[in-house]
Amino acid sequence: MTIIDGKKISQEIQTEVKTAVMKMKSEKGFVPGLAVILVGENPASQAYVKSKGKACEELGIYSITERVPATVSETELLSMVERFNNDTKIHGILVQLPLPKHIDEQKVIEAISPTKDVDGFHPVSIGKMMIGIDTFYSATPFGIIELLKRCKIDPSGKHVVVVGRSNIVGKPIANMLIQKKEWANAIVTIAHTATKDISYYTKQADILIAAIGRPKAITKEMVKPGAVVIDVGINRIEDATTKTGTRLVGDVDFENVKEIASAITPVPGGVGPMTIAMLMMNTLKAAGGRV
Ligand code: GUN
Repeated sequence: MTIIDGKKISQEIQTEVKTAVMKMKSEKGFVPGLAVILVGENPASQAYVKSKGKACEELGIYSITERVPATVSETELLSMVERFNNDTKIHGILVQLPLPKHIDEQKVIEAISPTKDVDGFHPVSIGKMMIGIDTFYSATPFGIIELLKRCKIDPSGKHVVVVGRSNIVGKPIANMLIQKKEWANAIVTIAHTATKDISYYTKQADILIAAIGRPKAITKEMVKPGAVVIDVGINRIEDATTKTGTRLVGDVDFENVKEIASAITPVPGGVGPMTIAMLMMNTLKAAGGRV
């Protein structure tokens, strides 16, 4: 049984990106630039944005973080995006989600130039992904593919069951995995809230991807012995034994499922750290670089 070390793999990728950034700097005389816009004071968003900025700094990527109050108008936000669209030092733009209710999230996403869409949320990026044209892939599904690749777990011809159909994980990972290309080519089932007997499907999975958002929703009884289990969940639960009184758990009952899985990602330290690495990779790509 392998516990997939997402933290280690993420660091390997970041080292590769750093090398490519240094090469770009010496050969072309510029470095990739990322603009991050954070609206309001959501603590999780603040933490994510902070670690994105820190990663840029460590990799030699130029970054600007614009923090604006939750009261910012949609018009103001759209004009900030437009300013970065026209800023030649900026190759990637990311507006941290969720946004306050008075702002139309989709409108903001669509305002980002598809050439700078390092989050891969723009309909142009999603459309290209769907028809198999190279594009920006959103960080979490891209991170899952990269984990499989670097652990030499080939999904080709395998039955992958994805639980969850969100726009940022379930739908894109299912789409990426059905593409006729390397590290894809899988048979994919998507189970979701209208699925009556989830375990009927999950038990058939050679590779099970849990992106549900419910702590320990996937139990041992729901998993086929020998399956590869990828846990995308990040749920904070109460735990009186810890200093903070809370603890992070995934969507998978890790302690029990690891007894029968052939490989499994832990939470924390599995898919989570990969998202930063893939964002850095996308920012490098936006500037014309490759690892
Ligand atoms: N909120 C949660 N995940 C993400 C992400 O990947 N990108 C952005 N922009 N916001 C998020």
